[in-house]
Amino acid sequence: MSINFSFSLFFLSLITLFTSVSVLSEPLPLPDLLSPYLSPVKFFPNYEAMVNRLKIFIYKPNAAFAYESPTESLFYTSLRSSPFTTEDGEQAHLYFVPFPSDLRPNSLSRVVRGIRNDFPYWNRTLGADHVFISCRSGATAGDRNFLELQKNAIQLSCFPAPAGNFIPHKDVSLPPVSTFDAPPQENASSARFLGYLRRDGSESNESVLAKQLTGDPDFLIAAEPVDQGVYAERLSSSKFCLFEYGADVSRIGKALRFGCVPAVITDRPIQDLPFMDVLKWQEMAVFVGAGGGAKELKLALSRASSGDGYERMRRLGVAASKHFVWHKPPEPYDCFNTLMYQLWLRRFAIRYVLRDDLSVD
Ligand SMILES: *[C@@H]1O[C@H](CO)[C@@H](O)[C@H](O)[C@H]1NC(C)=O
Ligand SMILES: *[C@@H]1O[C@H](CO)[C@@H](O)[C@H](O)[C@H]1NC(C)=O
Ligand SMILES: *[C@@H]1O[C@H](CO)[C@@H](O)[C@H](O)[C@H]1NC(C)=O
Repeated sequence: MSINFSFSLFFLSLITLFTSVSVLSEPLPLPDLLSPYLSPVKFFPNYEAMVNRLKIFIYKPNAAFAYESPTESLFYTSLRSSPFTTEDGEQAHLYFVPFPSDLRPNSLSRVVRGIRNDFPYWNRTLGADHVFISCRSGATAGDRNFLELQKNAIQLSCFPAPAGNFIPHKDVSLPPVSTFDAPPQENASSARFLGYLRRDGSESNESVLAKQLTGDPDFLIAAEPVDQGVYAERLSSSKFCLFEYGADVSRIGKALRFGCVPAVITDRPIQDLPFMDVLKWQEMAVFVGAGGGAKELKLALSRASSGDGYERMRRLGVAASKHFVWHKPPEPYDCFNTLMYQLWLRRFAIRYVLRDDLSVD
């Protein structure tokens, strides 16, 4: 497999050079220290370029269908009615492959085979400039068509991704649909609690950590209230929101919004945080190992909450939280548009030369 890589890198550095020169003369939108972006100098001009230029070709599904979760369907609806679509495949940077969430591997292979045979785009990159949504854990069986989709095409995966179904640097996390009708918490923190842990289900079903923290007056351990205003207050009343890595962590955008710095508790590296190649997660959240239990956690949080560092971390998170909000129709810098921005960053598809040792069915 030979990869025409140096050319794209050269091209990329030319663009980088060009954009940084043109931007130096303008003031930055935020002082660098308070910018939540990995690269504030590049983010804004690149985003503008995305708005003006990104084009996506959407294949027609064989039959009308609906995605199974609100997040998947809102993304698809927003995409179809967005100015990013084009009917002219030759103009497109990316190609979107729609298919129902529960499609079996064999049928999915047929969908890809159809695309491969009827259009010239798949063969050019073996799918690397193609995009699809899948929030289920990946099936492993499958023919070449299925494998190329899984291994080469960009997968939009609901956050958190099912274990083993996310390839960092290729795939993109879809934050859950959330509308946040309350305004962001811009004021300095007046938190009473060190940490808030959302209680899920019955007490008998509780995590070890929840059991250890129960009764500690520094921690608020309570279920998510139905009233979202009350929930927002609860989030703002704690310095940190504790997430034991799992389904719960999907609420991380809300925590940021209401000034509750996420404390993610996990023993393995996390590779599927939303907007990982856009936001400075390391400076907006703390990551704590699970092994040390409540004692270590409390120590780590006390350390992170002292000094000026905490307030800066909190403000970066509040600033970043607009990227987690879904609007209907989409608005600039909201969740949909930031996802499109991530796709734009991935548009330089690596072009593969067809390997002759792969059999074709
Ligand atoms: C793409 O390549 C396959 C062989 O790998 C071939 O069967 C197919 O016809 C090609 N598609 C197009 C549109 O040429
Ligand atoms: C933030 O501060 C302003 C002015 O001090 C106050 O009016 C407002 O209620 C505060 N907002 C929140 C959410 O506490
Ligand atoms: C216990 O936890 C599991 C997994 O987190 C969940 O599926 C189940 O519904 C919970 N049971 C109760 C009674 O809450």
